Order: sequence, then structure tokens, then C-alpha cells
Amino acid sequence: MIVLGVETSCDETAAAVVDGGRKVLSSVVASQDAIHAPYGGVVPELASRQHLAVILPVIRSALSRAGIGLGDLGGIAVTHGPGLVGSLLVGCSVAKSIAYVRGTPLVGVNHLEGHIYAAFLEHPALVFPFVALVVSGGHTALYLARGAGQYERIGQTRDDAAGEAFDKVAKLLGLGYPGGPNIERVARHGNARAILFPTAQMSDGAPDFSFSGIKTAVSLHVRRNGPLDEGQVADVAASFQGRVVMALVRKTVRAASRLSVPRVVLTGGVAANGALREALARECAERGWELSVPSRALCTDNAAMIAAAGHDRLVAGERASLELNAVPDLALA
Ligand code: KG4
Ligand code: ZN
Repeated sequence: MIVLGVETSCDETAAAVVDGGRKVLSSVVASQDAIHAPYGGVVPELASRQHLAVILPVIRSALSRAGIGLGDLGGIAVTHGPGLVGSLLVGCSVAKSIAYVRGTPLVGVNHLEGHIYAAFLEHPALVFPFVALVVSGGHTALYLARGAGQYERIGQTRDDAAGEAFDKVAKLLGLGYPGGPNIERVARHGNARAILFPTAQMSDGAPDFSFSGIKTAVSLHVRRNGPLDEGQVADVAASFQGRVVMALVRKTVRAASRLSVPRVVLTGGVAANGALREALARECAERGWELSVPSRALCTDNAAMIAAAGHDRLVAGERASLELNAVPDLALA
């Protein structure tokens, strides 16, 4: 079944064509970074307006790169949450319109399930169950994925998402938006042991995360020691990144050990981070666990992952009606 995926939950307008749920025929992502950069973060109203302006060209481009027309589609999968309501509405409205006009089966996909499915696109042999660390700008959570559509949340952030912390710390260091890639670039020239920023320990032992404390610590450090020169900025970036990576890796490894699940998936925008990828790969290799990490382009928001997740739901007989609506706080588990 050839599925068109549509993703507009935040600040990327994306469409992709995927065959059989695993083979990416095309994946087009129109980034809005340049639009939001002057504000240091995503401005929801500007995001939805930009989605509206580019969604049809993006879909047209995905179809033409795949060499197919609307008539070849076996289904359409669209992100209907979680995300920014105005942004989600653009994708949902377009997907429903095409489904209505062409009589194409439609399915709504949870954005976080999409991130998990990104792992299947490049590791088709991946099998359930596995522990998934979904780490993005809006979410940071650990899931036990027991089977398709069966997810149990075993830990989550109690305050900021990891990506949000990267973005805020980048802003404090004057590195601009989006923060994650900028922190990673600058951190390469810094010493991760230069400053000992705190990491949160949960007093109840839960595999939860907290990143607001480290963000405040960076803010105090900058205020006390600023203005920082280039080398000092690099040290702060490296020290911050090191601590965040350590917290993410430790809790993921502990959760997989406790559950005796020797398979781990790392996904979401922050999973594009090289230090995180390397640290988790090392820990999994030491234990003989299987680690699946999508390539960087499939870690950050894209529509191929939505088409993959939607494919399995469509094949299982799931159909969305034209009542399908945007659900900004849609839960996965
Ligand atoms: O999954 P995603 O593209 O969008 C959401 O669903 O939120 O994740 C975006 C987040 C942003 O906070 C961005 O700064 C972060 O992922 N990110 C990174 C890197 N690339 C993107 N964080 C750390 N290192 C990176 N290389
Ligand atoms: Zn995302």
C-alpha cells in the first residue's frame, strides 16, 4: 500500500510517500527555521500561516518525486496531535480534503508514534518489544513499546523537554535558534568537564527527567561570569550537553535493564545529537543490546515516519472519518 504522510504539528511542513510502510519513495520537509529565528522560538501564528502557504507545493513535490499521482495512493496518514493547534489544523484539513475528493482511506497518527516508527524505516528487522526514548522539542519520554499501537509510558519529563532546554540554553549563550544543532556544533570545541552542572535525581526513584534545574544553573553561570568569550561559551555548551546526555542515557539503560528488554530505540529531534547517539550506542554495545537510531533527517520532524505509522494502522483496518480533528495534547499511552 502506498501512503501519503502529512506532518504539520510544529514548524516543519512535511509530506512523504512511503511504500509498504517501510520504503521511502520521497520525503519533503520545508523548514520554518528562518521565519522563527528572529524570535528565538516558534511563533504559533506564524507557523500556521506558513504551513498554509506551502503545504500544497510540499505535497505536490512529494508526489512528483515519488513519480506517482493522487490516484496511486492507498491511504493518507496525517498527524492530528500532539502539537500546535493551528499548525495541526492545516495538515488535517488538507488530508481530509484529499481523502474526501478522491475517496482515499484516511488515518490520524500520533506524532510521537510517528517518531517511534522512524526506527522501522531504516531497521525493518526491528521487532517488538523495545524501550523507546522519544526526545524532542516538545516531549521527552520513555516508552515500553510492546507491539504496534501498544505503548506504555514508563517515564517522562517533569518540566521542560530536553530539546526545549537545548533551545533555551542556546538562547542564553547567544547561539540562536534552533538551539540543539548550534549547541552541538559549539560543544565540539569545549571541555565537557569544565563546569559541573547539576542533574536532577528523582527522590521517588522514578525514571523521570527534569531539565529546568540545569537550565537555571546555566543562566546563573552566565549571569555571574558573563560576558563569556568564545572558549567559555564552548565549555558551557559542552558541559550542559554532557549532563543532559548522561541523564538521558542513564535512565534509558536503567529502564531497559529493569524491564529485561534488550532492544532500544532512540528517536526525536534531539536524537540527531551526535554525543547522545554515541553515548547510548556505547552503553548498548557493552550490554549486547540492539540499538536502532534513525538517520538524522528521520529523527527530526518529517512525514515519512507518519506515513509508516499510518500504514500499519490502515492495514489493520483503522479509518478516520471526516470528523478527524486536531488534538493539541493527544497522549500516546
Ligand atoms: O522532533 P523535533 O524535530 O520537533 C518536535 O517534535 O519538537 O525536535 C526539535 C528539537 C529542537 O528542540 C531542537 O533544538 C532539537 O530537537 N535538536 C537537537 C539537535 N537537532 C535538533 N538537539 C540537540 N542536538 C541536535 N543536533
Ligand atoms: Zn517531533
